[in-house]
Amino acid sequence: MGFPKNFLWGGATAANQYEGAYNVDGRGLANVDLLPAGEDRRAVVCGEKKMFDFQDGYFYPAMNAIDGYHRYKEDMALFAEMGFKTYRMSISWTRIFPNGDEEMPNEKGLKYYEDVFKECKKYNIEPLVTISHFDVPMYLVEKYGSWRSREMIGFFEKYCRTILTRYKGLVKYWLVFNEINMILHAPFMGAGLYIGDLDEKEAERVKYQAAHHELVANALAVKIAHEIDSENQVGCMLAGGKHYPYSCDPNDVLVSQLRDREDYFFSDVQARGEYPSYMLRKFEREGIQVDFEEEDIEILKENTVDFISFSYYMSRVGTANPEIAEQTTGNVFDSVKNPYLPSSEWGWQIDPVGMRVILVELYDRYQKPLFVVENGLGVNDIPDSEGNINDDERINYLTDHMKAMKDAIDLDGVPVMGYTMWGCIDIVSAGSGEMKKRYGFIYVDRDNLGNGTLKRTKKKSFDWYKKVIASNGEIL
Ligand code: BG6
Repeated sequence: MGFPKNFLWGGATAANQYEGAYNVDGRGLANVDLLPAGEDRRAVVCGEKKMFDFQDGYFYPAMNAIDGYHRYKEDMALFAEMGFKTYRMSISWTRIFPNGDEEMPNEKGLKYYEDVFKECKKYNIEPLVTISHFDVPMYLVEKYGSWRSREMIGFFEKYCRTILTRYKGLVKYWLVFNEINMILHAPFMGAGLYIGDLDEKEAERVKYQAAHHELVANALAVKIAHEIDSENQVGCMLAGGKHYPYSCDPNDVLVSQLRDREDYFFSDVQARGEYPSYMLRKFEREGIQVDFEEEDIEILKENTVDFISFSYYMSRVGTANPEIAEQTTGNVFDSVKNPYLPSSEWGWQIDPVGMRVILVELYDRYQKPLFVVENGLGVNDIPDSEGNINDDERINYLTDHMKAMKDAIDLDGVPVMGYTMWGCIDIVSAGSGEMKKRYGFIYVDRDNLGNGTLKRTKKKSFDWYKKVIASNGEIL
Protein backbone atom coordinates (compact mmCIF):
# COMPACT_ATOMS: atom_id res chain seq x y z
CA MET A 1 0.00 0.00 0.00
CA GLY A 2 1.02 3.65 0.08
CA PHE A 3 1.19 6.05 -2.82
CA PRO A 4 0.18 4.59 -6.19
CA LYS A 5 3.07 3.69 -8.51
CA ASN A 6 2.34 6.43 -11.01
CA PHE A 7 1.70 9.12 -8.39
CA LEU A 8 2.50 12.56 -9.83
CA TRP A 9 4.88 14.25 -7.39
CA GLY A 10 5.88 17.77 -8.27
CA GLY A 11 5.65 21.47 -7.61
CA ALA A 12 3.56 24.42 -8.71
CA THR A 13 3.94 28.04 -9.76
CA ALA A 14 1.77 30.61 -11.55
CA ALA A 15 2.79 32.81 -14.47
CA ASN A 16 2.19 36.15 -12.78
CA GLN A 17 4.09 35.21 -9.63
CA TYR A 18 6.97 33.53 -11.45
CA GLU A 19 7.62 34.91 -14.93
CA GLY A 20 7.99 38.68 -14.70
CA ALA A 21 8.82 40.04 -18.19
CA TYR A 22 5.40 41.67 -18.07
CA ASN A 23 5.88 43.61 -21.31
CA VAL A 24 8.26 41.35 -23.21
CA ASP A 25 7.60 39.71 -26.61
CA GLY A 26 4.26 41.43 -27.11
CA ARG A 27 2.63 40.48 -23.79
CA GLY A 28 -0.38 42.63 -22.89
CA LEU A 29 -1.24 44.02 -19.48
CA ALA A 30 -3.31 41.85 -17.11
CA ASN A 31 -5.20 42.49 -13.86
CA VAL A 32 -2.56 40.50 -11.94
CA ASP A 33 0.19 42.92 -13.02
CA LEU A 34 -1.59 45.75 -11.25
CA LEU A 35 -1.65 44.38 -7.71
CA PRO A 36 0.69 46.65 -5.78
CA ALA A 37 2.85 45.60 -2.84
CA GLY A 38 2.01 47.29 0.44
CA GLU A 39 -1.04 48.25 2.36
CA ASP A 40 -3.33 49.07 -0.59
CA ARG A 41 -2.90 45.62 -2.12
CA ARG A 42 -5.80 44.05 -0.30
CA ALA A 43 -8.25 46.76 -1.40
CA VAL A 44 -7.12 46.33 -5.03
CA VAL A 45 -7.23 42.53 -4.80
CA CYS A 46 -10.76 42.70 -3.40
CA GLY A 47 -11.96 45.07 -6.14
CA GLU A 48 -12.60 47.93 -3.72
CA LYS A 49 -9.84 50.24 -4.93
CA LYS A 50 -9.53 50.90 -8.64
CA MET A 51 -6.07 50.51 -10.10
CA PHE A 52 -6.31 50.04 -13.86
CA ASP A 53 -2.81 51.32 -14.58
CA PHE A 54 0.55 51.55 -12.86
CA GLN A 55 0.56 54.46 -10.45
CA ASP A 56 3.50 56.45 -9.11
CA GLY A 57 4.62 55.64 -5.62
CA TYR A 58 3.72 51.96 -5.80
CA PHE A 59 5.87 48.89 -6.34
CA TYR A 60 4.37 46.16 -8.55
CA PRO A 61 6.11 42.86 -7.77
CA ALA A 62 4.65 40.87 -10.68
CA MET A 63 6.34 43.12 -13.27
CA ASN A 64 9.61 41.26 -12.90
CA ALA A 65 8.71 38.58 -10.32
CA ILE A 66 11.65 36.12 -10.24
CA ASP A 67 12.30 36.45 -13.97
CA GLY A 68 11.24 32.87 -14.64
CA TYR A 69 10.48 33.94 -18.19
CA HIS A 70 14.19 34.04 -18.91
CA ARG A 71 15.39 31.50 -16.36
CA TYR A 72 12.97 28.60 -16.74
CA LYS A 73 15.63 26.25 -18.11
CA GLU A 74 17.79 26.65 -15.04
CA ASP A 75 14.74 26.16 -12.81
CA MET A 76 13.47 23.15 -14.72
CA ALA A 77 16.87 21.48 -14.37
CA LEU A 78 16.55 21.90 -10.60
CA PHE A 79 13.00 20.50 -10.62
CA ALA A 80 14.29 17.54 -12.62
CA GLU A 81 17.12 17.04 -10.13
CA MET A 82 14.49 16.70 -7.39
CA GLY A 83 12.84 14.07 -9.55
CA PHE A 84 9.61 15.93 -10.36
CA LYS A 85 7.12 13.81 -12.26
CA THR A 86 4.95 16.83 -12.91
CA TYR A 87 5.22 20.60 -12.92
CA ARG A 88 2.11 22.70 -12.45
CA MET A 89 2.38 26.09 -14.15
CA SER A 90 0.04 28.52 -15.82
CA ILE A 91 -0.16 30.21 -19.17
CA SER A 92 -0.42 33.97 -19.14
CA TRP A 93 -3.49 34.76 -21.26
CA THR A 94 -2.01 38.10 -22.37
CA ARG A 95 1.09 36.45 -23.83
CA ILE A 96 -1.23 34.61 -26.21
CA PHE A 97 -3.86 37.31 -26.78
CA PRO A 98 -2.39 40.60 -25.48
CA ASN A 99 -5.73 42.43 -25.49
CA GLY A 100 -7.90 39.33 -25.36
CA ASP A 101 -10.01 40.01 -28.45
CA GLU A 102 -7.49 39.81 -31.32
CA GLU A 103 -8.18 37.75 -34.41
CA MET A 104 -4.75 36.12 -34.36
CA PRO A 105 -2.71 34.95 -31.38
CA ASN A 106 0.76 36.28 -30.57
CA GLU A 107 3.18 33.72 -32.02
CA LYS A 108 5.98 34.71 -29.65
CA GLY A 109 3.79 33.87 -26.68
CA LEU A 110 2.72 30.55 -28.16
CA LYS A 111 6.30 29.64 -28.99
CA TYR A 112 7.47 30.51 -25.49
CA TYR A 113 5.17 27.96 -23.82
CA GLU A 114 5.90 25.39 -26.49
CA ASP A 115 9.57 25.69 -25.52
CA VAL A 116 8.71 25.39 -21.84
CA PHE A 117 6.66 22.23 -22.43
CA LYS A 118 9.44 20.75 -24.54
CA GLU A 119 11.84 21.46 -21.71
CA CYS A 120 9.48 19.56 -19.38
CA LYS A 121 9.41 16.61 -21.79
CA LYS A 122 13.19 16.59 -21.96
CA TYR A 123 13.16 15.56 -18.29
CA ASN A 124 10.01 13.40 -18.49
CA ILE A 125 8.13 15.96 -16.44
CA GLU A 126 4.42 15.97 -17.22
CA PRO A 127 3.12 19.54 -17.41
CA LEU A 128 -0.08 20.29 -15.50
CA VAL A 129 -1.29 23.55 -16.98
CA THR A 130 -3.63 26.13 -15.48
CA ILE A 131 -5.34 28.04 -18.26
CA SER A 132 -6.17 31.03 -16.08
CA HIS A 133 -4.35 31.51 -12.80
CA PHE A 134 -6.30 34.65 -11.89
CA ASP A 135 -5.30 36.55 -15.02
CA VAL A 136 -7.58 38.56 -17.28
CA PRO A 137 -6.40 40.94 -20.03
CA MET A 138 -6.78 44.53 -18.80
CA TYR A 139 -8.19 45.54 -22.16
CA LEU A 140 -11.15 43.22 -21.52
CA VAL A 141 -11.47 44.50 -17.95
CA GLU A 142 -11.76 48.08 -19.19
CA LYS A 143 -13.87 47.46 -22.26
CA TYR A 144 -16.26 44.79 -20.98
CA GLY A 145 -16.00 44.92 -17.20
CA SER A 146 -14.33 41.52 -17.29
CA TRP A 147 -16.34 38.38 -16.47
CA ARG A 148 -19.54 40.29 -15.68
CA SER A 149 -19.97 40.40 -19.46
CA ARG A 150 -21.10 37.34 -21.38
CA GLU A 151 -18.80 38.25 -24.24
CA MET A 152 -15.91 37.05 -22.13
CA ILE A 153 -16.99 33.47 -22.76
CA GLY A 154 -16.24 33.81 -26.47
CA PHE A 155 -12.82 35.38 -25.91
CA PHE A 156 -11.90 32.71 -23.42
CA GLU A 157 -13.17 29.95 -25.68
CA LYS A 158 -10.91 31.19 -28.44
CA TYR A 159 -7.94 31.37 -26.11
CA CYS A 160 -8.62 27.79 -24.94
CA ARG A 161 -9.03 26.47 -28.47
CA THR A 162 -5.78 28.13 -29.51
CA ILE A 163 -3.65 26.67 -26.74
CA LEU A 164 -5.35 23.27 -26.68
CA THR A 165 -4.71 22.93 -30.40
CA ARG A 166 -1.16 24.16 -30.31
CA TYR A 167 -0.08 22.05 -27.33
CA LYS A 168 -1.82 18.85 -28.35
CA GLY A 169 0.56 16.00 -27.58
CA LEU A 170 2.67 18.16 -25.27
CA VAL A 171 0.16 18.70 -22.46
CA LYS A 172 -2.59 16.39 -21.30
CA TYR A 173 -3.45 17.59 -17.77
CA TRP A 174 -5.32 20.89 -17.65
CA LEU A 175 -6.95 23.05 -14.97
CA VAL A 176 -9.27 25.77 -16.23
CA PHE A 177 -9.63 28.44 -13.50
CA ASN A 178 -7.33 28.54 -10.50
CA GLU A 179 -9.30 28.71 -7.23
CA ILE A 180 -12.51 29.60 -9.02
CA ASN A 181 -14.25 30.29 -5.70
CA MET A 182 -11.82 33.17 -5.11
CA ILE A 183 -14.12 35.35 -7.24
CA LEU A 184 -16.40 35.79 -4.22
CA HIS A 185 -13.58 36.85 -1.88
CA ALA A 186 -11.02 38.58 -4.12
CA PRO A 187 -12.98 39.63 -7.20
CA PHE A 188 -10.33 41.77 -8.87
CA MET A 189 -7.41 39.42 -8.38
CA GLY A 190 -9.55 36.35 -9.02
CA ALA A 191 -11.56 37.59 -11.99
CA GLY A 192 -10.73 41.19 -12.93
CA LEU A 193 -13.88 42.57 -11.28
CA TYR A 194 -13.80 46.08 -9.87
CA ILE A 195 -16.89 46.47 -7.67
CA GLY A 196 -15.91 49.46 -5.54
CA ASP A 197 -18.61 51.65 -7.09
CA LEU A 198 -21.50 49.23 -6.46
CA ASP A 199 -23.78 48.79 -3.48
CA GLU A 200 -23.55 45.48 -1.64
CA LYS A 201 -26.50 43.88 -3.39
CA GLU A 202 -25.35 44.80 -6.86
CA ALA A 203 -21.80 43.70 -6.06
CA GLU A 204 -23.17 40.31 -5.02
CA ARG A 205 -25.17 40.03 -8.24
CA VAL A 206 -22.16 40.94 -10.38
CA LYS A 207 -20.00 38.34 -8.67
CA TYR A 208 -22.51 35.55 -9.23
CA GLN A 209 -23.18 36.63 -12.81
CA ALA A 210 -19.45 36.63 -13.50
CA ALA A 211 -19.13 33.26 -11.76
CA HIS A 212 -21.85 31.90 -14.03
CA HIS A 213 -19.94 33.06 -17.09
CA GLU A 214 -16.78 31.41 -15.77
CA LEU A 215 -18.68 28.19 -15.11
CA VAL A 216 -20.02 28.12 -18.67
CA ALA A 217 -16.54 28.96 -19.99
CA ASN A 218 -15.13 26.15 -17.85
CA ALA A 219 -17.58 23.66 -19.37
CA LEU A 220 -16.73 24.84 -22.88
CA ALA A 221 -13.02 24.45 -22.13
CA VAL A 222 -13.69 20.86 -21.03
CA LYS A 223 -15.65 20.26 -24.24
CA ILE A 224 -12.95 21.68 -26.50
CA ALA A 225 -10.19 19.81 -24.64
CA HIS A 226 -12.01 16.49 -25.08
CA GLU A 227 -12.77 17.20 -28.75
CA ILE A 228 -9.19 18.12 -29.57
CA ASP A 229 -7.61 15.17 -27.83
CA SER A 230 -9.39 12.34 -26.05
CA GLU A 231 -6.23 11.94 -23.94
CA ASN A 232 -6.81 15.34 -22.32
CA GLN A 233 -7.91 15.33 -18.70
CA VAL A 234 -9.38 18.50 -17.30
CA GLY A 235 -9.86 19.39 -13.67
CA CYS A 236 -11.62 22.09 -11.71
CA MET A 237 -9.58 23.88 -9.05
CA LEU A 238 -10.95 24.96 -5.72
CA ALA A 239 -9.45 26.90 -2.83
CA GLY A 240 -10.06 24.09 -0.37
CA GLY A 241 -10.30 23.89 3.38
CA LYS A 242 -13.24 22.76 5.39
CA HIS A 243 -15.07 24.87 7.96
CA TYR A 244 -15.11 23.14 11.32
CA PRO A 245 -17.84 24.12 13.77
CA TYR A 246 -16.36 26.25 16.54
CA SER A 247 -18.32 24.15 19.03
CA CYS A 248 -20.88 21.33 18.94
CA ASP A 249 -23.65 23.91 19.26
CA PRO A 250 -25.88 22.86 16.35
CA ASN A 251 -25.96 26.49 15.23
CA ASP A 252 -22.18 26.45 14.79
CA VAL A 253 -22.48 23.22 12.82
CA LEU A 254 -25.08 24.74 10.54
CA VAL A 255 -23.10 27.93 9.94
CA SER A 256 -20.03 25.85 9.04
CA GLN A 257 -22.04 23.78 6.60
CA LEU A 258 -23.45 26.91 4.97
CA ARG A 259 -19.99 28.46 4.70
CA ASP A 260 -18.66 25.30 3.03
CA ARG A 261 -21.36 25.61 0.40
CA GLU A 262 -19.98 28.97 -0.74
CA ASP A 263 -16.98 26.96 -1.96
CA TYR A 264 -18.66 23.75 -3.03
CA PHE A 265 -21.16 25.63 -5.17
CA PHE A 266 -18.46 25.96 -7.83
CA SER A 267 -17.23 22.38 -7.80
CA ASP A 268 -20.83 21.13 -7.55
CA VAL A 269 -21.56 22.76 -10.90
CA GLN A 270 -18.24 21.74 -12.45
CA ALA A 271 -18.38 18.13 -11.28
CA ARG A 272 -22.12 17.42 -11.33
CA GLY A 273 -23.11 19.65 -14.22
CA GLU A 274 -25.94 21.56 -12.64
CA TYR A 275 -26.66 24.33 -10.21
CA PRO A 276 -27.33 22.94 -6.72
CA SER A 277 -30.79 23.63 -5.37
CA TYR A 278 -29.39 25.54 -2.39
CA MET A 279 -27.85 28.12 -4.73
CA LEU A 280 -30.99 28.54 -6.82
CA ARG A 281 -32.94 29.08 -3.59
CA LYS A 282 -30.42 31.66 -2.43
CA PHE A 283 -30.75 33.57 -5.71
CA GLU A 284 -34.53 33.52 -5.37
CA ARG A 285 -34.58 34.46 -1.70
CA GLU A 286 -32.06 37.27 -1.99
CA GLY A 287 -33.31 38.59 -5.33
CA ILE A 288 -30.00 37.87 -7.09
CA GLN A 289 -30.81 37.98 -10.79
CA VAL A 290 -28.34 35.78 -12.68
CA ASP A 291 -28.95 35.65 -16.43
CA PHE A 292 -28.72 32.21 -18.01
CA GLU A 293 -29.00 31.43 -21.70
CA GLU A 294 -31.06 28.38 -22.53
CA GLU A 295 -28.07 26.52 -23.89
CA ASP A 296 -26.13 26.93 -20.63
CA ILE A 297 -28.00 24.12 -18.88
CA GLU A 298 -26.96 21.62 -21.52
CA ILE A 299 -23.39 22.90 -21.81
CA LEU A 300 -22.91 22.57 -18.06
CA LYS A 301 -24.55 19.16 -17.92
CA GLU A 302 -22.59 17.61 -20.76
CA ASN A 303 -19.13 18.87 -19.90
CA THR A 304 -18.21 18.02 -16.37
CA VAL A 305 -14.60 17.82 -15.22
CA ASP A 306 -12.54 14.64 -15.19
CA PHE A 307 -10.97 15.24 -11.81
CA ILE A 308 -11.15 17.57 -8.84
CA SER A 309 -8.11 19.57 -7.87
CA PHE A 310 -7.72 21.91 -4.96
CA SER A 311 -5.32 23.95 -2.88
CA TYR A 312 -5.07 23.16 0.79
CA TYR A 313 -3.26 25.36 3.26
CA MET A 314 -5.54 25.32 6.28
CA SER A 315 -8.97 24.51 7.62
CA ARG A 316 -11.36 27.24 8.66
CA VAL A 317 -13.87 27.65 11.48
CA GLY A 318 -17.51 28.64 11.43
CA THR A 319 -19.55 29.96 14.32
CA ALA A 320 -22.96 31.48 14.88
CA ASN A 321 -21.37 33.81 17.45
CA PRO A 322 -18.32 35.35 15.80
CA GLU A 323 -18.11 38.05 18.48
CA ILE A 324 -16.99 35.55 21.11
CA ALA A 325 -14.18 34.05 19.04
CA GLU A 326 -10.79 35.36 18.02
CA GLN A 327 -10.36 36.08 14.29
CA THR A 328 -7.40 35.05 12.20
CA THR A 329 -6.27 35.62 8.64
CA GLY A 330 -5.72 33.19 5.81
CA ASN A 331 -5.23 34.42 2.29
CA VAL A 332 -8.38 36.47 1.77
CA PHE A 333 -10.56 34.11 3.76
CA ASP A 334 -10.90 35.54 7.23
CA SER A 335 -11.82 32.91 9.73
CA VAL A 336 -12.32 32.34 13.39
CA LYS A 337 -9.18 31.13 15.12
CA ASN A 338 -9.11 27.45 15.95
CA PRO A 339 -7.79 27.15 19.53
CA TYR A 340 -6.40 23.67 18.81
CA LEU A 341 -4.10 24.73 15.97
CA PRO A 342 -0.77 26.55 15.74
CA SER A 343 -0.31 29.27 13.12
CA SER A 344 2.37 30.26 10.64
CA GLU A 345 4.19 33.59 10.75
CA TRP A 346 1.42 34.96 8.55
CA GLY A 347 -1.35 33.71 10.81
CA TRP A 348 -2.31 30.76 8.62
CA GLN A 349 -3.43 27.90 10.79
CA ILE A 350 -1.54 24.65 10.44
CA ASP A 351 -3.76 21.60 10.24
CA PRO A 352 -2.38 18.44 8.60
CA VAL A 353 -5.39 16.36 9.67
CA GLY A 354 -7.51 18.80 7.69
CA MET A 355 -5.79 17.51 4.54
CA ARG A 356 -7.29 14.08 5.15
CA VAL A 357 -10.62 15.63 6.11
CA ILE A 358 -10.89 17.58 2.85
CA LEU A 359 -9.73 14.66 0.70
CA VAL A 360 -12.34 12.40 2.26
CA GLU A 361 -15.05 15.02 1.99
CA LEU A 362 -14.36 15.85 -1.67
CA TYR A 363 -14.24 12.20 -2.66
CA ASP A 364 -17.44 11.41 -0.77
CA ARG A 365 -19.10 14.31 -2.55
CA TYR A 366 -17.96 13.71 -6.11
CA GLN A 367 -16.41 10.25 -6.49
CA LYS A 368 -13.92 11.62 -8.97
CA PRO A 369 -10.12 11.38 -8.72
CA LEU A 370 -8.52 14.14 -6.69
CA PHE A 371 -5.33 16.11 -7.24
CA VAL A 372 -3.68 18.19 -4.51
CA VAL A 373 -2.29 21.01 -6.63
CA GLU A 374 -1.23 23.42 -3.88
CA ASN A 375 0.01 22.91 -0.34
CA GLY A 376 2.94 24.47 1.46
CA LEU A 377 4.20 26.82 4.13
CA GLY A 378 5.18 30.46 3.69
CA VAL A 379 8.24 31.21 5.84
CA ASN A 380 10.65 34.13 5.92
CA ASP A 381 13.69 31.92 5.25
CA ILE A 382 16.97 33.62 6.08
CA PRO A 383 20.26 32.11 4.89
CA ASP A 384 22.79 31.49 7.71
CA SER A 385 26.33 32.89 7.64
CA GLU A 386 27.40 30.16 5.20
CA GLY A 387 24.44 30.79 2.97
CA ASN A 388 22.59 27.59 3.96
CA ILE A 389 18.84 27.59 4.44
CA ASN A 390 17.76 25.02 6.99
CA ASP A 391 14.03 25.04 6.51
CA ASP A 392 13.08 22.32 9.00
CA GLU A 393 9.76 24.01 9.73
CA ARG A 394 8.78 23.54 6.08
CA ILE A 395 9.97 19.94 6.04
CA ASN A 396 7.88 19.19 9.13
CA TYR A 397 4.82 20.90 7.66
CA LEU A 398 5.10 19.00 4.40
CA THR A 399 5.83 15.67 6.10
CA ASP A 400 2.72 15.96 8.26
CA HIS A 401 0.51 16.93 5.33
CA MET A 402 1.87 14.18 3.10
CA LYS A 403 1.30 11.62 5.86
CA ALA A 404 -2.30 12.77 6.12
CA MET A 405 -2.66 12.45 2.34
CA LYS A 406 -1.21 8.95 2.55
CA ASP A 407 -3.76 8.07 5.24
CA ALA A 408 -6.56 9.25 2.97
CA ILE A 409 -5.21 6.98 0.24
CA ASP A 410 -4.42 3.99 2.45
CA LEU A 411 -7.10 4.08 5.09
CA ASP A 412 -9.97 5.76 3.27
CA GLY A 413 -9.37 4.54 -0.26
CA VAL A 414 -9.37 8.01 -1.80
CA PRO A 415 -7.87 8.05 -5.31
CA VAL A 416 -5.28 10.84 -5.37
CA MET A 417 -3.55 11.46 -8.70
CA GLY A 418 -0.71 13.61 -7.47
CA TYR A 419 0.65 16.36 -5.30
CA THR A 420 2.24 19.61 -6.43
CA MET A 421 3.82 21.58 -3.61
CA TRP A 422 3.02 25.26 -3.94
CA GLY A 423 5.80 27.66 -4.83
CA CYS A 424 8.42 24.96 -5.36
CA ILE A 425 10.79 27.84 -6.05
CA ASP A 426 10.36 31.09 -4.07
CA ILE A 427 7.95 33.38 -5.94
CA VAL A 428 5.93 36.51 -5.20
CA SER A 429 3.15 35.92 -2.69
CA ALA A 430 -0.29 36.38 -4.23
CA GLY A 431 -1.98 37.51 -1.06
CA SER A 432 0.64 39.79 0.43
CA GLY A 433 2.74 40.69 -2.62
CA GLU A 434 5.83 39.99 -0.55
CA MET A 435 8.88 38.07 -1.65
CA LYS A 436 9.81 37.21 1.90
CA LYS A 437 6.78 34.93 2.22
CA ARG A 438 8.72 32.03 0.76
CA TYR A 439 7.44 28.55 0.00
CA GLY A 440 10.21 27.06 -2.12
CA PHE A 441 12.63 24.17 -2.04
CA ILE A 442 14.78 26.69 -3.92
CA TYR A 443 15.69 30.06 -2.45
CA VAL A 444 15.66 33.08 -4.76
CA ASP A 445 17.77 36.10 -3.87
CA ARG A 446 15.22 38.88 -4.17
CA ASP A 447 13.61 41.07 -1.53
CA ASN A 448 10.22 42.68 -1.10
CA LEU A 449 11.27 45.72 -3.12
CA GLY A 450 12.74 43.78 -6.01
CA ASN A 451 16.41 44.05 -5.00
CA GLY A 452 18.70 41.03 -5.29
CA THR A 453 20.69 38.94 -7.75
CA LEU A 454 17.88 36.42 -8.45
CA LYS A 455 20.43 33.67 -7.76
CA ARG A 456 18.83 30.30 -7.04
CA THR A 457 20.07 28.28 -4.00
CA LYS A 458 18.87 24.85 -2.82
CA LYS A 459 17.36 24.80 0.65
CA LYS A 460 17.60 21.81 3.00
CA SER A 461 14.13 20.74 1.87
CA PHE A 462 15.44 20.29 -1.68
CA ASP A 463 17.28 17.07 -0.85
CA TRP A 464 14.51 15.98 1.47
CA TYR A 465 11.88 16.23 -1.29
CA LYS A 466 14.20 14.45 -3.69
CA LYS A 467 14.21 11.50 -1.26
CA VAL A 468 10.44 11.65 -0.82
CA ILE A 469 9.95 11.37 -4.56
CA ALA A 470 12.62 8.72 -5.07
CA SER A 471 11.00 6.55 -2.38
CA ASN A 472 7.49 7.34 -3.67
CA GLY A 473 6.62 8.71 -0.25
CA GLU A 474 7.97 5.75 1.72
CA ILE A 475 10.50 7.80 3.73
CA LEU A 476 7.88 10.05 5.29
C1 BG6 B 1 -3.39 30.30 -3.57
C2 BG6 B 1 -3.07 30.78 -4.94
O1 BG6 B 1 -4.43 31.09 -3.10
O2 BG6 B 1 -2.46 30.39 -2.54
C3 BG6 B 1 -1.61 31.10 -5.17
O3 BG6 B 1 -3.55 29.93 -5.94
C4 BG6 B 1 -1.00 31.67 -3.91
O4 BG6 B 1 -1.52 31.93 -6.29
C5 BG6 B 1 -1.09 30.63 -2.82
O5 BG6 B 1 0.30 32.13 -4.07
C6 BG6 B 1 -0.42 31.01 -1.52
O6 BG6 B 1 -0.88 32.25 -1.09
P1 BG6 B 1 0.10 33.44 -0.76
O7 BG6 B 1 -0.79 34.60 -0.50
O8 BG6 B 1 0.86 33.03 0.45
O9 BG6 B 1 0.97 33.63 -1.94
